[in-house]
Amino acid sequence: MTKPKILVTRKISDSAEQQLKKNFDVTLNLKDEAIPYENLTKICNEYDGVIATSFDKFDKNFFSSLNGKLKIIASVSVGYDNIDTLAAKERNIIITNAPNVLNNAVAEITLLLMLGAARRALEGLTLVKSGKWKDAKVDFTNFMVGKPMTGKTLGIIGMGRIGRIVAERAKGFGMKIIYYNRKKISVELEMGAKYFESVNKMMPYCDYVSIHCPSTPETKHILNKDAIELLPRHAIVINTSRGATIDDDALIAALQNNKIYAAGLDVFNNEPKLDERYLKLNNCFTLPHIGSADNETRAAMSMMAVNNIEAHFNKSQYLSRVI
Ligand code: DGY
Repeated sequence: MTKPKILVTRKISDSAEQQLKKNFDVTLNLKDEAIPYENLTKICNEYDGVIATSFDKFDKNFFSSLNGKLKIIASVSVGYDNIDTLAAKERNIIITNAPNVLNNAVAEITLLLMLGAARRALEGLTLVKSGKWKDAKVDFTNFMVGKPMTGKTLGIIGMGRIGRIVAERAKGFGMKIIYYNRKKISVELEMGAKYFESVNKMMPYCDYVSIHCPSTPETKHILNKDAIELLPRHAIVINTSRGATIDDDALIAALQNNKIYAAGLDVFNNEPKLDERYLKLNNCFTLPHIGSADNETRAAMSMMAVNNIEAHFNKSQYLSRVI
């Protein structure tokens, strides 16, 4: 019997690639070069299944140009806003993702962003690496003085699995937790966090606000001009979800005019060609979308995608089916 043909669009972990090779006719991307969007449909039309990342774009146009061979896209990511799931459904194409195994990694990068933004890590690092520290005026009251986390209030937008782990970790820093979620979560899951029924009602109480909801039409610009204007002047905005949840114009204006203290961002609209105004802001601590990027997490995410592919072709239970 001929083995199903599987394309892996980017380099995934060695162990996941080896596992995949056992039962499938596999095309790997060992050079890890992104497949240009224009070529994606033509290439995918030769495969029964695809393992992809959140950086590959599967839009309506992609699905309408398929020839019927492709049956499943297994994404090595929890987010799947890069996939037009309605169009996939119309074509009966299964979509799976890789949730949960990255929760701790994303929570850790959230804390890094909070510390980085609050303690002016970008400015500090730039000063040391530039060799100019020796010439700097080191005055005890002002030199690199930032903001504390201990005792402050963290507002979490999206109290799902990642949001709740962030809450737990932040409590280790002595923070108080408040949250907004589409629905109030159970008292057991809240673990003492106070619920707000709207983002705007929560904003005035946030020393820090961190976004942990998926990117959907409903969450687009969940942090918009109105919400940002309600934040206290010392507030710090953190985003590890997707760039689309923030209105860039509003956030950049608030940072430029010191209407808030700082931001720590791992995700951007139009990555990697982010709005260049962010690059000029000393009070914006930035990372290149590496929330899930630790070796164990990426290996687990890769294996989850392989397991979803196996489940599809063995007709067994998917680990995480989206549609
Ligand atoms: C995810 O899994 O969605 C991360 O953001 C990496 O793409």
